[in-house]
Amino acid sequence: MNDNLEEIKAILKRHGQEHLLNHYEKIDDICKKKLLDQIKNIDFQLIDNLYRSTKISAKSTSDKIAPIDYLDKYKLKDEYKYYENIGKKAIKEGKLAAVTMAGGQGTRLGHNGPKGTYDIGLDSHKSLFELLCDSLKEEGKKYGVIIPWFIMTSKENNKATVEFFEKNKYFGYQKDKNLFFFIQGELPMIDTEGKILIGEDGLIKLAADGHGGIYESLVKSGMTKKMKEMGVEWIFIGGVDNCLVKMVDPVLMGVAIDKKVTVACKSVVKANPQEKVGVFCKKNGKPNVIEYTEITEEMAEARNENGELLYGESHILCNLFSVNAVERMGASPLPYHVAYKKAKYLDKNGNLVEPSSPNAYKFEAFLFDAFGKVDEMAVLRVKREEEFAPVKNADSAGVDCPKTARELYKKFYHLD
Ligand code: UD1
Repeated sequence: MNDNLEEIKAILKRHGQEHLLNHYEKIDDICKKKLLDQIKNIDFQLIDNLYRSTKISAKSTSDKIAPIDYLDKYKLKDEYKYYENIGKKAIKEGKLAAVTMAGGQGTRLGHNGPKGTYDIGLDSHKSLFELLCDSLKEEGKKYGVIIPWFIMTSKENNKATVEFFEKNKYFGYQKDKNLFFFIQGELPMIDTEGKILIGEDGLIKLAADGHGGIYESLVKSGMTKKMKEMGVEWIFIGGVDNCLVKMVDPVLMGVAIDKKVTVACKSVVKANPQEKVGVFCKKNGKPNVIEYTEITEEMAEARNENGELLYGESHILCNLFSVNAVERMGASPLPYHVAYKKAKYLDKNGNLVEPSSPNAYKFEAFLFDAFGKVDEMAVLRVKREEEFAPVKNADSAGVDCPKTARELYKKFYHLD
Protein backbone atom coordinates (compact mmCIF):
# COMPACT_ATOMS: atom_id res chain seq x y z
CA MET A 1 0.00 0.00 0.00
CA ASN A 2 2.86 2.37 0.90
CA ASP A 3 4.65 2.04 -2.45
CA ASN A 4 1.30 2.49 -4.07
CA LEU A 5 0.67 5.61 -2.01
CA GLU A 6 4.01 7.16 -2.90
CA GLU A 7 3.40 6.50 -6.57
CA ILE A 8 -0.03 8.10 -6.36
CA LYS A 9 1.32 11.13 -4.48
CA ALA A 10 3.76 11.69 -7.33
CA ILE A 11 0.98 11.51 -9.94
CA LEU A 12 -1.13 13.95 -7.96
CA LYS A 13 1.76 16.37 -7.58
CA ARG A 14 2.35 16.35 -11.34
CA HIS A 15 -1.24 17.39 -11.93
CA GLY A 16 -1.66 19.81 -9.00
CA GLN A 17 -4.26 17.56 -7.33
CA GLU A 18 -2.41 16.73 -4.07
CA HIS A 19 -5.46 17.80 -2.02
CA LEU A 20 -7.17 14.52 -2.98
CA LEU A 21 -5.26 12.85 -0.15
CA ASN A 22 -6.06 15.57 2.43
CA HIS A 23 -8.54 13.35 4.24
CA TYR A 24 -6.82 10.05 3.52
CA GLU A 25 -5.78 9.43 7.12
CA LYS A 26 -9.31 10.00 8.40
CA ILE A 27 -11.09 7.42 6.26
CA ASP A 28 -11.30 3.66 6.96
CA ASP A 29 -9.23 1.05 5.13
CA ILE A 30 -11.97 0.11 2.67
CA CYS A 31 -12.43 3.76 1.67
CA LYS A 32 -8.65 4.23 1.49
CA LYS A 33 -8.43 1.44 -1.05
CA LYS A 34 -11.42 2.78 -2.99
CA LEU A 35 -9.91 6.27 -3.10
CA LEU A 36 -6.55 5.01 -4.37
CA ASP A 37 -8.32 2.92 -7.02
CA GLN A 38 -10.37 5.92 -8.07
CA ILE A 39 -7.26 8.08 -8.38
CA LYS A 40 -5.48 5.43 -10.42
CA ASN A 41 -8.39 5.36 -12.84
CA ILE A 42 -8.53 9.11 -13.42
CA ASP A 43 -7.31 10.31 -16.79
CA PHE A 44 -5.60 13.46 -15.45
CA GLN A 45 -4.65 14.64 -18.90
CA LEU A 46 -8.33 14.57 -19.86
CA ILE A 47 -9.25 16.48 -16.68
CA ASP A 48 -6.60 19.13 -17.45
CA ASN A 49 -7.99 19.49 -20.97
CA LEU A 50 -11.55 19.66 -19.74
CA TYR A 51 -10.64 22.34 -17.23
CA ARG A 52 -8.99 24.36 -19.98
CA SER A 53 -12.16 23.99 -22.06
CA THR A 54 -14.17 25.75 -19.33
CA LYS A 55 -12.09 28.88 -19.94
CA ILE A 56 -12.86 29.02 -23.65
CA SER A 57 -16.17 30.79 -23.99
CA ALA A 58 -16.24 31.60 -27.71
CA LYS A 59 -17.70 28.86 -29.85
CA SER A 60 -16.19 28.06 -33.20
CA THR A 61 -17.90 30.36 -35.69
CA SER A 62 -16.36 28.64 -38.67
CA ASP A 63 -18.86 25.75 -38.46
CA LYS A 64 -21.28 25.78 -41.36
CA ILE A 65 -24.75 25.06 -40.02
CA ALA A 66 -27.64 24.31 -42.39
CA PRO A 67 -31.13 22.86 -42.08
CA ILE A 68 -31.49 19.11 -42.56
CA ASP A 69 -33.81 17.20 -44.92
CA TYR A 70 -36.49 15.04 -43.37
CA LEU A 71 -39.36 12.75 -44.34
CA ASP A 72 -42.79 13.40 -42.88
CA LYS A 73 -44.20 10.02 -41.82
CA TYR A 74 -47.75 11.14 -42.41
CA LYS A 75 -47.11 12.64 -45.81
CA LEU A 76 -45.64 9.42 -47.15
CA LYS A 77 -48.18 8.01 -49.60
CA ASP A 78 -47.53 4.57 -51.13
CA GLU A 79 -44.07 4.55 -49.58
CA TYR A 80 -45.62 4.31 -46.11
CA LYS A 81 -46.74 0.71 -46.67
CA TYR A 82 -43.53 -0.04 -48.55
CA TYR A 83 -41.29 1.05 -45.65
CA GLU A 84 -43.62 -0.48 -43.09
CA ASN A 85 -43.44 -3.89 -44.75
CA ILE A 86 -39.65 -3.81 -44.82
CA GLY A 87 -39.56 -2.87 -41.14
CA LYS A 88 -42.19 -5.41 -40.11
CA LYS A 89 -40.23 -8.22 -41.74
CA ALA A 90 -37.05 -7.24 -39.87
CA ILE A 91 -38.87 -6.97 -36.54
CA LYS A 92 -40.51 -10.37 -37.01
CA GLU A 93 -37.05 -11.79 -37.70
CA GLY A 94 -35.93 -10.53 -34.27
CA LYS A 95 -33.56 -7.91 -35.63
CA LEU A 96 -34.62 -5.10 -33.26
CA ALA A 97 -33.57 -4.42 -29.67
CA ALA A 98 -34.53 -1.47 -27.46
CA VAL A 99 -32.21 0.49 -25.21
CA THR A 100 -33.54 2.85 -22.55
CA MET A 101 -31.22 5.48 -21.18
CA ALA A 102 -32.06 5.70 -17.52
CA GLY A 103 -28.87 7.05 -16.01
CA GLY A 104 -30.31 10.51 -15.27
CA GLN A 105 -31.28 11.49 -11.75
CA GLY A 106 -34.52 13.43 -12.26
CA THR A 107 -33.23 16.41 -10.29
CA ARG A 108 -35.48 18.89 -12.15
CA LEU A 109 -38.44 16.65 -11.46
CA GLY A 110 -37.68 16.63 -7.75
CA HIS A 111 -37.95 12.83 -7.61
CA ASN A 112 -35.81 11.03 -5.10
CA GLY A 113 -34.71 7.91 -6.98
CA PRO A 114 -34.15 6.68 -10.53
CA LYS A 115 -36.33 8.66 -12.92
CA GLY A 116 -37.81 5.49 -14.39
CA THR A 117 -39.38 4.63 -11.03
CA TYR A 118 -41.47 7.83 -11.13
CA ASP A 119 -45.26 7.49 -11.02
CA ILE A 120 -46.75 10.19 -13.30
CA GLY A 121 -50.10 9.97 -11.50
CA LEU A 122 -52.18 7.75 -13.77
CA ASP A 123 -54.99 5.80 -12.07
CA SER A 124 -52.86 2.67 -12.52
CA HIS A 125 -49.94 4.38 -10.70
CA LYS A 126 -47.58 2.71 -13.14
CA SER A 127 -43.99 3.94 -13.15
CA LEU A 128 -42.29 5.28 -16.28
CA PHE A 129 -40.44 1.96 -16.53
CA GLU A 130 -43.69 0.02 -16.50
CA LEU A 131 -45.34 2.29 -19.08
CA LEU A 132 -42.37 1.81 -21.40
CA CYS A 133 -42.41 -1.92 -20.78
CA ASP A 134 -46.17 -2.18 -21.47
CA SER A 135 -45.68 -0.60 -24.86
CA LEU A 136 -42.69 -2.80 -25.66
CA LYS A 137 -44.59 -5.98 -24.76
CA GLU A 138 -47.65 -4.88 -26.70
CA GLU A 139 -45.60 -4.15 -29.82
CA GLY A 140 -43.64 -7.40 -29.49
CA LYS A 141 -46.92 -9.34 -29.45
CA LYS A 142 -47.95 -7.78 -32.76
CA TYR A 143 -44.89 -9.30 -34.41
CA GLY A 144 -44.72 -12.55 -32.45
CA VAL A 145 -41.42 -11.66 -30.77
CA ILE A 146 -40.11 -10.42 -27.43
CA ILE A 147 -38.10 -7.28 -28.08
CA PRO A 148 -34.89 -7.58 -26.02
CA TRP A 149 -34.66 -4.64 -23.63
CA PHE A 150 -31.38 -3.10 -22.45
CA ILE A 151 -31.38 -0.51 -19.68
CA MET A 152 -28.55 1.92 -19.12
CA THR A 153 -28.20 2.98 -15.51
CA SER A 154 -25.57 5.08 -13.74
CA LYS A 155 -23.36 3.97 -10.84
CA GLU A 156 -25.52 6.21 -8.69
CA ASN A 157 -28.85 4.59 -9.54
CA ASN A 158 -27.98 1.08 -10.79
CA LYS A 159 -28.71 -0.72 -7.51
CA ALA A 160 -32.01 1.07 -6.93
CA THR A 161 -33.06 0.46 -10.53
CA VAL A 162 -32.31 -3.25 -10.51
CA GLU A 163 -34.02 -3.64 -7.12
CA PHE A 164 -37.09 -1.84 -8.45
CA PHE A 165 -37.31 -4.23 -11.40
CA GLU A 166 -36.78 -7.22 -9.13
CA LYS A 167 -39.55 -6.06 -6.80
CA ASN A 168 -41.85 -5.76 -9.81
CA LYS A 169 -40.88 -9.19 -11.19
CA TYR A 170 -39.19 -7.47 -14.13
CA PHE A 171 -42.64 -6.58 -15.45
CA GLY A 172 -42.83 -9.99 -17.10
CA TYR A 173 -39.41 -9.76 -18.76
CA GLN A 174 -36.62 -12.20 -17.88
CA LYS A 175 -33.38 -10.78 -16.51
CA ASP A 176 -30.29 -11.86 -18.45
CA LYS A 177 -32.48 -13.55 -21.07
CA ASN A 178 -34.31 -10.65 -22.68
CA LEU A 179 -33.70 -7.88 -20.13
CA PHE A 180 -30.20 -6.56 -19.45
CA PHE A 181 -28.76 -3.75 -17.35
CA PHE A 182 -25.51 -1.96 -18.05
CA ILE A 183 -23.85 0.99 -16.34
CA GLN A 184 -22.71 4.22 -17.98
CA GLY A 185 -19.41 5.93 -17.25
CA GLU A 186 -18.54 8.71 -14.78
CA LEU A 187 -16.12 11.62 -14.58
CA PRO A 188 -14.85 13.64 -11.62
CA MET A 189 -16.36 17.07 -10.95
CA ILE A 190 -13.93 19.96 -10.63
CA ASP A 191 -14.08 23.40 -9.03
CA THR A 192 -13.44 26.71 -10.76
CA GLU A 193 -9.69 26.31 -10.10
CA GLY A 194 -9.60 22.94 -11.82
CA LYS A 195 -9.31 21.00 -8.55
CA ILE A 196 -11.13 17.68 -8.38
CA LEU A 197 -13.79 17.71 -5.66
CA ILE A 198 -13.94 15.34 -2.72
CA GLY A 199 -17.45 14.20 -1.78
CA GLU A 200 -18.97 13.79 1.67
CA ASP A 201 -17.72 10.20 1.86
CA GLY A 202 -14.09 11.30 1.45
CA LEU A 203 -13.99 9.81 -2.05
CA ILE A 204 -13.71 11.51 -5.44
CA LYS A 205 -16.89 13.36 -6.38
CA LEU A 206 -18.01 11.63 -9.57
CA ALA A 207 -20.92 12.42 -11.87
CA ALA A 208 -22.46 10.53 -14.80
CA ASP A 209 -20.60 11.47 -17.97
CA GLY A 210 -23.69 12.01 -20.14
CA HIS A 211 -25.42 9.66 -22.51
CA GLY A 212 -22.70 10.11 -25.15
CA GLY A 213 -20.83 7.38 -23.30
CA ILE A 214 -23.56 4.91 -24.29
CA TYR A 215 -21.75 3.63 -27.37
CA GLU A 216 -18.61 2.79 -25.46
CA SER A 217 -20.61 1.34 -22.55
CA LEU A 218 -22.67 -0.87 -24.86
CA VAL A 219 -19.51 -2.26 -26.37
CA LYS A 220 -17.38 -2.54 -23.20
CA SER A 221 -20.16 -4.18 -21.19
CA GLY A 222 -20.49 -6.84 -23.91
CA MET A 223 -24.03 -5.77 -24.84
CA THR A 224 -23.41 -5.33 -28.56
CA LYS A 225 -21.78 -8.75 -28.65
CA LYS A 226 -24.82 -10.21 -26.89
CA MET A 227 -27.13 -8.46 -29.35
CA LYS A 228 -25.29 -9.91 -32.30
CA GLU A 229 -25.48 -13.38 -30.79
CA MET A 230 -29.24 -12.87 -30.51
CA GLY A 231 -29.47 -11.90 -34.19
CA VAL A 232 -30.14 -8.23 -33.45
CA GLU A 233 -29.09 -5.79 -36.19
CA TRP A 234 -30.87 -2.61 -35.11
CA ILE A 235 -30.98 -0.79 -31.79
CA PHE A 236 -33.58 1.79 -30.87
CA ILE A 237 -32.12 4.09 -28.22
CA GLY A 238 -34.54 6.29 -26.29
CA GLY A 239 -34.83 8.23 -23.04
CA VAL A 240 -36.66 6.98 -19.98
CA ASP A 241 -38.59 10.20 -19.55
CA ASN A 242 -40.92 10.13 -22.57
CA CYS A 243 -43.97 8.10 -21.60
CA LEU A 244 -45.21 8.00 -25.21
CA VAL A 245 -41.93 6.78 -26.71
CA LYS A 246 -42.56 4.33 -29.57
CA MET A 247 -39.56 2.06 -29.50
CA VAL A 248 -40.87 -0.31 -32.14
CA ASP A 249 -41.59 1.53 -35.38
CA PRO A 250 -41.55 -0.52 -38.59
CA VAL A 251 -41.69 2.60 -40.76
CA LEU A 252 -38.55 4.05 -39.14
CA MET A 253 -36.79 0.71 -39.56
CA GLY A 254 -37.98 0.36 -43.14
CA VAL A 255 -36.67 3.81 -43.99
CA ALA A 256 -33.27 3.01 -42.47
CA ILE A 257 -33.00 -0.34 -44.25
CA ASP A 258 -34.26 0.91 -47.60
CA LYS A 259 -32.12 4.04 -47.61
CA LYS A 260 -29.11 2.06 -46.43
CA VAL A 261 -28.36 4.51 -43.60
CA THR A 262 -26.97 3.32 -40.29
CA VAL A 263 -28.77 5.96 -38.19
CA ALA A 264 -32.43 7.02 -38.43
CA CYS A 265 -33.97 9.49 -36.00
CA LYS A 266 -37.45 10.74 -35.22
CA SER A 267 -38.33 14.40 -34.97
CA VAL A 268 -41.40 16.44 -34.07
CA VAL A 269 -42.09 20.02 -35.10
CA LYS A 270 -40.59 22.38 -32.53
CA ALA A 271 -43.47 23.98 -30.63
CA ASN A 272 -41.88 27.45 -30.40
CA PRO A 273 -38.39 28.96 -30.69
CA GLN A 274 -37.85 28.73 -26.92
CA GLU A 275 -38.87 25.10 -26.47
CA LYS A 276 -36.17 23.20 -24.56
CA VAL A 277 -35.33 20.66 -27.25
CA GLY A 278 -32.30 20.10 -29.42
CA VAL A 279 -32.86 20.54 -33.18
CA PHE A 280 -31.52 18.53 -36.10
CA CYS A 281 -29.25 20.30 -38.55
CA LYS A 282 -26.26 19.74 -40.80
CA LYS A 283 -22.94 20.87 -39.40
CA ASN A 284 -20.18 21.15 -41.98
CA GLY A 285 -22.24 18.88 -44.22
CA LYS A 286 -22.71 16.14 -41.60
CA PRO A 287 -25.86 15.37 -39.59
CA ASN A 288 -25.97 16.92 -36.14
CA VAL A 289 -28.14 18.26 -33.31
CA ILE A 290 -27.75 21.70 -31.79
CA GLU A 291 -28.73 21.49 -28.16
CA TYR A 292 -31.18 24.04 -26.73
CA THR A 293 -28.55 25.27 -24.32
CA GLU A 294 -26.21 26.05 -27.22
CA ILE A 295 -28.41 27.43 -30.03
CA THR A 296 -28.22 31.19 -30.70
CA GLU A 297 -31.41 33.24 -30.45
CA GLU A 298 -31.04 34.20 -34.08
CA MET A 299 -30.96 30.57 -35.22
CA ALA A 300 -33.79 29.57 -32.92
CA GLU A 301 -35.99 32.36 -34.34
CA ALA A 302 -35.02 31.97 -38.04
CA ARG A 303 -37.90 31.03 -40.37
CA ASN A 304 -38.14 29.83 -43.96
CA GLU A 305 -40.27 31.37 -46.72
CA ASN A 306 -43.34 29.45 -45.44
CA GLY A 307 -42.98 30.95 -41.98
CA GLU A 308 -41.83 27.65 -40.45
CA LEU A 309 -38.86 27.52 -38.09
CA LEU A 310 -35.76 26.88 -40.18
CA TYR A 311 -34.37 24.71 -37.39
CA GLY A 312 -37.69 23.22 -36.39
CA GLU A 313 -37.08 19.45 -36.39
CA SER A 314 -36.84 18.67 -32.69
CA HIS A 315 -34.65 15.87 -31.48
CA ILE A 316 -36.80 13.77 -29.15
CA LEU A 317 -34.17 11.19 -28.19
CA CYS A 318 -35.79 8.54 -30.39
CA ASN A 319 -32.91 7.26 -32.46
CA LEU A 320 -32.31 4.01 -34.33
CA PHE A 321 -28.80 2.69 -35.01
CA SER A 322 -27.39 -0.36 -36.69
CA VAL A 323 -25.37 -2.44 -34.20
CA ASN A 324 -22.30 -1.94 -36.38
CA ALA A 325 -22.73 1.85 -36.24
CA VAL A 326 -22.89 1.72 -32.42
CA GLU A 327 -19.65 -0.26 -32.37
CA ARG A 328 -17.96 2.22 -34.67
CA MET A 329 -19.22 5.18 -32.64
CA GLY A 330 -17.94 3.61 -29.44
CA ALA A 331 -14.44 3.31 -30.84
CA SER A 332 -13.47 6.99 -30.62
CA PRO A 333 -14.26 9.58 -27.95
CA LEU A 334 -16.88 12.32 -28.23
CA PRO A 335 -16.39 15.91 -27.11
CA TYR A 336 -17.59 16.88 -23.63
CA HIS A 337 -20.04 19.69 -22.88
CA VAL A 338 -19.62 21.65 -19.67
CA ALA A 339 -22.39 22.24 -17.13
CA TYR A 340 -21.93 24.51 -14.10
CA LYS A 341 -23.68 22.86 -11.15
CA LYS A 342 -24.11 22.98 -7.38
CA ALA A 343 -22.11 20.20 -5.75
CA LYS A 344 -21.52 19.45 -2.05
CA TYR A 345 -17.90 18.80 -1.20
CA LEU A 346 -15.40 18.55 1.65
CA ASP A 347 -13.15 21.57 1.99
CA LYS A 348 -9.47 21.31 2.91
CA ASN A 349 -10.30 21.16 6.61
CA GLY A 350 -12.73 18.31 6.08
CA ASN A 351 -15.83 20.47 6.52
CA LEU A 352 -18.84 19.74 4.34
CA VAL A 353 -19.70 22.70 2.11
CA GLU A 354 -23.25 22.88 0.77
CA PRO A 355 -23.21 25.68 -1.82
CA SER A 356 -26.35 27.68 -2.55
CA SER A 357 -25.21 28.54 -6.07
CA PRO A 358 -23.23 26.63 -8.73
CA ASN A 359 -19.62 25.96 -7.78
CA ALA A 360 -18.45 23.03 -9.88
CA TYR A 361 -18.09 21.80 -13.44
CA LYS A 362 -19.67 18.58 -14.66
CA PHE A 363 -18.74 17.14 -18.04
CA GLU A 364 -21.14 15.32 -20.27
CA ALA A 365 -20.90 13.79 -23.72
CA PHE A 366 -24.07 13.85 -25.81
CA LEU A 367 -25.11 10.84 -27.85
CA PHE A 368 -26.00 12.97 -30.84
CA ASP A 369 -22.46 14.30 -31.21
CA ALA A 370 -21.74 10.93 -32.78
CA PHE A 371 -24.17 11.63 -35.62
CA GLY A 372 -21.42 13.57 -37.38
CA LYS A 373 -19.48 10.30 -37.69
CA VAL A 374 -21.86 9.15 -40.41
CA ASP A 375 -22.31 10.84 -43.78
CA GLU A 376 -26.03 10.40 -44.05
CA MET A 377 -28.82 9.64 -41.66
CA ALA A 378 -32.58 9.69 -42.06
CA VAL A 379 -34.85 12.01 -40.08
CA LEU A 380 -38.49 10.98 -39.87
CA ARG A 381 -40.96 13.59 -38.66
CA VAL A 382 -43.68 12.01 -36.48
CA LYS A 383 -46.68 13.42 -34.62
CA ARG A 384 -45.93 15.01 -31.27
CA GLU A 385 -49.27 13.92 -29.76
CA GLU A 386 -48.45 10.29 -30.60
CA GLU A 387 -44.82 10.08 -29.58
CA PHE A 388 -43.62 12.85 -27.31
CA ALA A 389 -44.78 13.33 -23.73
CA PRO A 390 -41.63 14.19 -21.77
CA VAL A 391 -41.48 14.30 -17.99
CA LYS A 392 -38.67 16.70 -17.17
CA ASN A 393 -39.88 19.23 -14.61
CA ALA A 394 -42.07 19.41 -11.53
CA ASP A 395 -45.71 20.41 -12.15
CA SER A 396 -44.98 23.97 -11.01
CA ALA A 397 -43.05 24.55 -14.25
CA GLY A 398 -46.23 23.96 -16.27
CA VAL A 399 -44.38 22.35 -19.22
CA ASP A 400 -42.88 18.90 -19.80
CA CYS A 401 -44.14 17.92 -16.38
CA PRO A 402 -46.13 14.97 -14.94
CA LYS A 403 -49.42 16.81 -15.52
CA THR A 404 -48.79 17.52 -19.22
CA ALA A 405 -47.37 14.03 -19.81
CA ARG A 406 -50.33 12.40 -18.06
CA GLU A 407 -52.81 14.35 -20.19
CA LEU A 408 -51.02 13.39 -23.41
CA TYR A 409 -50.78 9.76 -22.33
CA LYS A 410 -54.48 9.55 -21.43
CA LYS A 411 -55.50 11.19 -24.67
CA PHE A 412 -53.40 8.85 -26.77
CA TYR A 413 -54.64 5.71 -25.00
CA HIS A 414 -58.24 7.02 -24.65
CA LEU A 415 -58.16 6.59 -20.86
CA ASP A 416 -60.76 9.27 -20.01
C1 UD1 B 1 -32.78 15.93 -24.00
C2 UD1 B 1 -31.92 16.13 -25.23
C3 UD1 B 1 -32.53 17.14 -26.18
C4 UD1 B 1 -33.93 16.65 -26.53
C5 UD1 B 1 -34.76 16.47 -25.27
C6 UD1 B 1 -36.08 15.83 -25.63
C7 UD1 B 1 -29.77 15.78 -24.20
C8 UD1 B 1 -28.44 16.32 -23.85
N1 UD1 B 1 -30.62 16.58 -24.78
O1 UD1 B 1 -32.72 17.11 -23.23
O2 UD1 B 1 -31.77 17.27 -27.36
O3 UD1 B 1 -34.53 17.59 -27.37
O4 UD1 B 1 -34.10 15.57 -24.36
O5 UD1 B 1 -36.82 15.55 -24.50
O6 UD1 B 1 -30.04 14.63 -23.98
N2 UD1 B 1 -29.44 10.37 -19.38
C9 UD1 B 1 -28.67 9.31 -19.02
N3 UD1 B 1 -27.41 9.55 -18.57
C10 UD1 B 1 -26.88 10.81 -18.47
C11 UD1 B 1 -27.70 11.89 -18.84
C12 UD1 B 1 -28.99 11.64 -19.29
O7 UD1 B 1 -29.10 8.15 -19.10
O8 UD1 B 1 -25.73 10.95 -18.07
C13 UD1 B 1 -30.81 10.10 -19.87
C14 UD1 B 1 -31.88 10.59 -18.92
O9 UD1 B 1 -32.23 9.60 -17.98
C15 UD1 B 1 -33.02 10.88 -19.89
C16 UD1 B 1 -32.31 11.32 -21.16
O10 UD1 B 1 -30.99 10.80 -21.08
O11 UD1 B 1 -33.73 9.71 -20.20
C17 UD1 B 1 -32.34 12.83 -21.40
O12 UD1 B 1 -31.53 13.47 -20.47
P1 UD1 B 1 -31.76 14.95 -19.94
O13 UD1 B 1 -30.50 15.37 -19.31
O14 UD1 B 1 -33.00 15.03 -19.16
O15 UD1 B 1 -31.91 15.78 -21.30
P2 UD1 B 1 -32.77 17.07 -21.62
O16 UD1 B 1 -32.10 18.26 -21.09
O17 UD1 B 1 -34.16 16.89 -21.22
